[in-house]
Amino acid sequence: MSSIRRIPAASLRTGMYLHKIGGSWLSHPFLRNSFLLVNPEDVRRIVEAGIDSVWIDESRGDALQDVEAIGEAPYANATDAGTGRPDLPETGASSAPATAALRARATAGDVPLEAELARARDICLAGKAQVEEMFAELRLGKTVSQESVLPLVDEIAASVWRNPAALISVARLKTHDDYSYLHSVAVSALMLVLARQLKLDERLVRIAGIGGLMHDIGKAFMPLEILNKPGRLTDEEFEVMKQHSGAGAQALQDGGCEADVVDIVLHHHERMDGRGHPHGLREDEISLLARMGAVCDVYDAVTSVRPYRRPWDPAMAMREMARWDGHFDTRVFNAFVKSVGIYPVGSLVRLASERLAVILEPGVDSLLKPTVRAFYSIRSREKILPQTIDLAAGDCRDSIVSPESPEQWGLGNLEALWL
Ligand SMILES: [Fe+2]
Repeated sequence: MSSIRRIPAASLRTGMYLHKIGGSWLSHPFLRNSFLLVNPEDVRRIVEAGIDSVWIDESRGDALQDVEAIGEAPYANATDAGTGRPDLPETGASSAPATAALRARATAGDVPLEAELARARDICLAGKAQVEEMFAELRLGKTVSQESVLPLVDEIAASVWRNPAALISVARLKTHDDYSYLHSVAVSALMLVLARQLKLDERLVRIAGIGGLMHDIGKAFMPLEILNKPGRLTDEEFEVMKQHSGAGAQALQDGGCEADVVDIVLHHHERMDGRGHPHGLREDEISLLARMGAVCDVYDAVTSVRPYRRPWDPAMAMREMARWDGHFDTRVFNAFVKSVGIYPVGSLVRLASERLAVILEPGVDSLLKPTVRAFYSIRSREKILPQTIDLAAGDCRDSIVSPESPEQWGLGNLEALWL
């Protein structure tokens, strides 16, 4: 007889070994599925998450006594391996609750950009504060755990499921002072969206979000005079900064983070041609998650304000990054373009009608046909009354000719047109 038994969640007690929680991680409040229940609070969370039944392993914890089992589960069906999902190290429970918003992901992607922007801004502010605090704690010699960032990652995920463009676009608009902290939030959002585009399982989607948030955590250990330098780094300073990935990975390992998260942090600066750092890994030697990290990190970095250069327009960044030979995994990059759009929200484009326009909403059916706001006449070289155009509309005869650089057109702040 199998030692795995399915029981009503209400019958769970501390001392039982939780073998599996039914459903996806979105429907339960823990990062891990399997662990010994020692905390009554964990039992309460499972019941409050609305989970009906769970599987326990009676060979590893207390047996079911007074309550009636729902049925015995064949071992193969009861494991994560049985569902094609890799199991997690059984080192204990994560006590981080998933948000109700995240569990209600069924409404994914159906919230208009405008409706999500305010929430996205709040999440960015909260995220910035939390990442700043993490940096401060690491500098004081404390450790950080991945469990501590789970609620934030879940909030970021909930926002990008509602509307992927909102948080990604808001987080891109960071100032130099905000950079280190908001960059982490932006990369987390990009990683989540990319992971779903690549159809990774839900555990890995979440790991991607955590790894994105923590990828530059090692910068907490870098000398402040280099980290805050208002200009380009010298070769020597750059060599010092290269140590941030190793330092971050070590810190997360010390904090008990999962190997997959540590791997993203350690290898987000590797390149497919072996010319990255810290290990000069090539192609398949670099994990998929780390290859994803490389794309998301670079995109957010080049589209953000840096002390020594103006940000690239998002659509220009897509075009330029596509030309970088040997840097990125092509399959991952293509999926990234699909998930964020060839013309991300806020990009400047030239229309066939000889007007400049800013992207308002990605196209639903075609990446090439977003909704735009035309605001500048190329013929008369002056601003015109803004006009919103759905390029996918049946009666629309206009189209995008090319991405444009706001700087070359002498255009300053385009945010007022879409934010
Ligand atoms: Fe980095």
